[in-house]
Amino acid sequence: MNSKVKRRAFLKTSIIAGAGLSAMPGIVLGKSTEKISRKVNIAFIGLGGRGIGHLIRTAKTENVMISAICDIDVARIELAQKRLLEYGYPKATAYSKNEFSFEDMLKRDDIDGVIISTPWLWHTRMAVATMKAGKYAGVEVSAANTIEECWDLVNTSEETGMPCMILENVNYGRQGLAILNMVKQGVFGIPVHATCGYRHSLLGVKFNKDLKFGEGAKGEAVWRTQHSLKRNADVYPTHGVGPIAAMLDINRGNRFQYLTATASKAVGLKDYIEEHPNGGKNHPHAQLPWKQGDIITSVIKTANEETIIVRHDCNLPRPYSLDFSLQGTDGLVEWDGLNRGLIKSSDSSEINPARIFIEGKTPGHGWEELDAWVKKYDHPLWQKYEEEANKSSHNGIDFFVTREFINSVKEKRQPVMDVYDAAAWSAITPLSEASIATGSAPQYFPDFTRGKWIKRKPIDF
Ligand SMILES: NC(=O)c1ccc[n+]([C@@H]2O[C@H](COP(=O)([O-])OP(=O)(O)OC[C@H]3O[C@@H](n4cnc5c(N)ncnc54)[C@H](O)[C@@H]3O)[C@@H](O)[C@H]2O)c1
Repeated sequence: MNSKVKRRAFLKTSIIAGAGLSAMPGIVLGKSTEKISRKVNIAFIGLGGRGIGHLIRTAKTENVMISAICDIDVARIELAQKRLLEYGYPKATAYSKNEFSFEDMLKRDDIDGVIISTPWLWHTRMAVATMKAGKYAGVEVSAANTIEECWDLVNTSEETGMPCMILENVNYGRQGLAILNMVKQGVFGIPVHATCGYRHSLLGVKFNKDLKFGEGAKGEAVWRTQHSLKRNADVYPTHGVGPIAAMLDINRGNRFQYLTATASKAVGLKDYIEEHPNGGKNHPHAQLPWKQGDIITSVIKTANEETIIVRHDCNLPRPYSLDFSLQGTDGLVEWDGLNRGLIKSSDSSEINPARIFIEGKTPGHGWEELDAWVKKYDHPLWQKYEEEANKSSHNGIDFFVTREFINSVKEKRQPVMDVYDAAAWSAITPLSEASIATGSAPQYFPDFTRGKWIKRKPIDF
């Protein structure tokens, strides 16, 4: 054995041993021995596309009640009631008088946990109110819009003792969880660099067919598009950064230290409106001062000196990709977050969005398909719940994220992705905004854990 191989073999053994040692107390400490023995009561704020999905998955879960729901749109309340009846539940009490009706709902003392799936600007306010009312908060992505809001989440959770889970479903991708396993077992050697992002054309989401957005529009065009007008920032970082943060032990022995961000020109939305059959060069929306750069690239440096490239890319036509890769001293892996292997492109050539190279293991100098590695390192959650998960949306990941929130409530424990994750991952939005505004100047992440990151145990899904 030459010295390089020996050194690598030693490193792998110590990484595995380290993971084993630290995983044990994590399991013991992470789970409270106290459990709720009755049915847990889960309430909902926001019943749009996402909220209804959470409600249905909750209704399919054993030992739950759903007795309160809140949305300002009566049509969404009616749809939710219909779904509850379909799944054998009585009608819930509805809170829909105005934008602050959630506060009335939170006064009830029979609710254990609240799933919040509202537009971004409501997330922190609603999660804070939920925790202050003594209930578990499960909040959709991103959890916060400003650094102050990130601190509000952390401070409220610490002061009330109530957990706040960021409902980041992408952390449950089958390929991603297998790769997490591989990282922990040293397959890539020492991690050095990762990429991720949200590369998803949202042109048809930001504008209704008649190009309407804002008040009077439908779906996410009501609220999401405003952010492209007002903020030059990566406004949706967590789908990408969540899984990478887990792999690099962020908030658990490592942390995000600083980032620099750069935005490209902002022409995609204007071009879309000008070329749309209901638009044109003189359409009023084509004259708006669209602020969000079409491609926003942030580079994060971690305390353990890895680099992470995070991209936001939603204003130009393109296929979907979360653009994941992870590279270490022994090899690298690339995957797009859609849990797929070899695919045929429209011209019948083959594309492989999930591929791996491991020095000394991959034959030749090329890539290898990821499938066999995913099978070998498959996460126990997927082995156990594959059938149920596959019936769920987004390639099964939604099943796991709703389940984890409900289980944390039932088991009276911290959820796997906690308030420190919610704060650190969401902070990329305001920090990228500040960096872009100052010629890509570095912006430092606050240590939301106040030093606890040094001793916190690795994430254990
Ligand atoms: N994790 C994922 O894969 C995923 C997918 C889609 C959306 N999301 C996130 O989920 C959230 C909701 O997205 P969506 O697609 O369901 O949006 P949506 O616009 O379809 O639904 C939002 C709902 O919130 C309601 N609402 C707005 N203000 C309210 C208030 N003050 N009180 C009560 N209800 C209020 C609206 O009436 C609407 O029904 C967003 O944060 C989004 O980023 C996550």
